[in-house]
Amino acid sequence: MQKSHKPINATITAVGMYVPEKILDNKYFESIVDTSDEWITTRTGIKERRILENGGTSFMAVEAIKDLMKNFPLNPEEIDLIIVATITPDMFFPSTACLIQEKIGAKNAWGFDLSAACSGFLFALQTAASFIESGRYKKILVVGADKMSSITDYTDRNNCILFGDAASVVLVEPIEDLNYGIKDSILYCDGSGKDTLYMKAGGSLFPASQETVANRWHYIYQDGKTVFKAAVKGMADVSYEIMKRNNLTSDDIAYLVPHQANMRIIDATAERMGISRDKVMINIDRYGNTTAATIPLCLTEYYKAGKLKKGDNLILSAFGAGYTWGAIYLTWSLD
Ligand code: UT7
Repeated sequence: MQKSHKPINATITAVGMYVPEKILDNKYFESIVDTSDEWITTRTGIKERRILENGGTSFMAVEAIKDLMKNFPLNPEEIDLIIVATITPDMFFPSTACLIQEKIGAKNAWGFDLSAACSGFLFALQTAASFIESGRYKKILVVGADKMSSITDYTDRNNCILFGDAASVVLVEPIEDLNYGIKDSILYCDGSGKDTLYMKAGGSLFPASQETVANRWHYIYQDGKTVFKAAVKGMADVSYEIMKRNNLTSDDIAYLVPHQANMRIIDATAERMGISRDKVMINIDRYGNTTAATIPLCLTEYYKAGKLKKGDNLILSAFGAGYTWGAIYLTWSLD
């Protein structure tokens, strides 16, 4: 393939989503741990989350891609690349991207998984954008999918109320009109956050053993308070930074599209940007924290509801384990 010398932007040209049918509401958690609907609602903004009973992350991703294909014409054989942001792959290897490739018949695609926890979708979207801007690739599927229930300890009230399962996908393609598409990104990682949010075992450092199972090391550990403080600062600062760098005022922005971890983190970010609640995409109340899926889920739901219009300026923003965090500025190009 020839390298393009023409400046092009990458843009989202199709969206799709899947959430499992089974709902766990706050009342259910009152029955399994010492908590209350009131505590969960006021501290997090979450009312319910979806749980996948059978199958792995690739199942949800394929369902999301089917949803995309139902609404947008896409021949799987035209897909060049599949990038899957996930921390809950079906297996360590083969990659979830390979499993998806086979299931959807993307015969001409290559692909890989990308691990950046709650910032996964942003990292994957910027990676896709760079491949598109290089001129070598024309159609890239960017999937954000996590089956968080597979690594959630349902005896730990600090964490079990937070997470849910979902998958969402966007198609990224070139656009010649530089008024649209992905215009800027600021992405960071800082490994000093490694001890505050992790799943300790199952990797090469602590392979599965009776000890790792007995110690519950195959579940998420989170020091919520420390992560909360870092997330408020990280997400608010980077969202503000990308606005300033692009000379954007809050009036220029149609929506903040934040990672959905905690309503209080979302509010703090919007406040720093000077953005009112009605310009913030929110679905944390219905899905909780679905890790890599939260941002594309918001985009898909708002687009399907007719609330997202061509020409809308969006700031996508996330913070997660690692730490990883960042923001992307784009102008929506879909009618
Ligand atoms: O998405 C990736 C990044 N992750 C995040 O952004 C999550 C960041 N953290 C948070 O969202 C919040 O820290 C949590 C929602 C996890 C916790 O909220 P918090 O306001 O920071 O509460 P806390 O951890 O300071 O706990 C306050 C109290 C504690 O009791 P004491 O020690 O004050 O008696 C907890 O034991 O609330 C207690 N608590 C609960 N009470 C009822 C913790 N979890 C629960 C619960 N129900 N589920």
